[in-house]
Amino acid sequence: MTAPGSTPRTASRTARPRHYLMCPPTHFTVTYAINPWMDPAKPVDTELAVAQWEDLRDLYLRLGHRVELIEPLPDCPDMVYAANGATMVDGKVLGARFRNAERSAEGPAYLEWFRANGYQELHDPVHVNEGEGDFLVTGSWVLAGKGFRSAPESHAEAQEFFGRPVIGLDLVDERYYHLDTALAVLDHDEVMYNPEAFSPGSRAVLERLFPDAVLADAADAAVFGLNAVSDGRHVVLPEAAAGLAEKLRARGFEPIGVDLTELLKGGGSVKCCTLELRRPAH
Ligand code: ARG
Repeated sequence: MTAPGSTPRTASRTARPRHYLMCPPTHFTVTYAINPWMDPAKPVDTELAVAQWEDLRDLYLRLGHRVELIEPLPDCPDMVYAANGATMVDGKVLGARFRNAERSAEGPAYLEWFRANGYQELHDPVHVNEGEGDFLVTGSWVLAGKGFRSAPESHAEAQEFFGRPVIGLDLVDERYYHLDTALAVLDHDEVMYNPEAFSPGSRAVLERLFPDAVLADAADAAVFGLNAVSDGRHVVLPEAAAGLAEKLRARGFEPIGVDLTELLKGGGSVKCCTLELRRPAH
């Protein structure tokens, strides 16, 4: 409920059409474990994963966004997590370099997609970075996770390449091994996050930069509620994150819950499946 005399914040939330790159989970399965969510002994229904993923893609299209597709490689079951494939800011593409051998072929495959599609400012990284899994772009900064996957040195490499301030954040809970499992950008410099996933110092940095942030509780974090994609108005997130949806609604956002439970078996959800293509602002 809006207090008498105050304006509902919904009125001020504006969606901006986005451009995404996604990878169909044609070859998705769990045959190795590189994060605590993955259990090769648990069966995976690839057809169901494809259907859930198609619903997400269709939702983006209905919301007015553009979606590009990259061809999945048969030996890369995790390639569906397109967010890890690169980071693109102001038309500049920073390629990914994966920590684990199981995913190493994905970095060059994504970089090749950008090359083949006419993107010209490409940087093949020296240091390990797992794309938008660990780099999240706000209006003013690039937030950069480390602790489990991306190398600390990748933060300086990203700052030099993008010419944007990179804020390093330490992840301390192995369930939230990528920054995009613990924090999501909602709008310009507005975020939501799970404080428990960060070191005390990083938590203090987040409080300083985002005193108004939406905070997720443990239950919403555990269903990957923070692995969300926002266009400034609509926030697409796992439907199980009911508490978080309520908090977003109170801030004037329009939360849209989706079912990506099959892809959660690989340790990913909405944001993991979505790489944003950001051109220079005009
Ligand atoms: N199985 C993948 C891995 O552990 C999941 C990646 C999820 N992607 C993400 N952007 N967090 O690397």
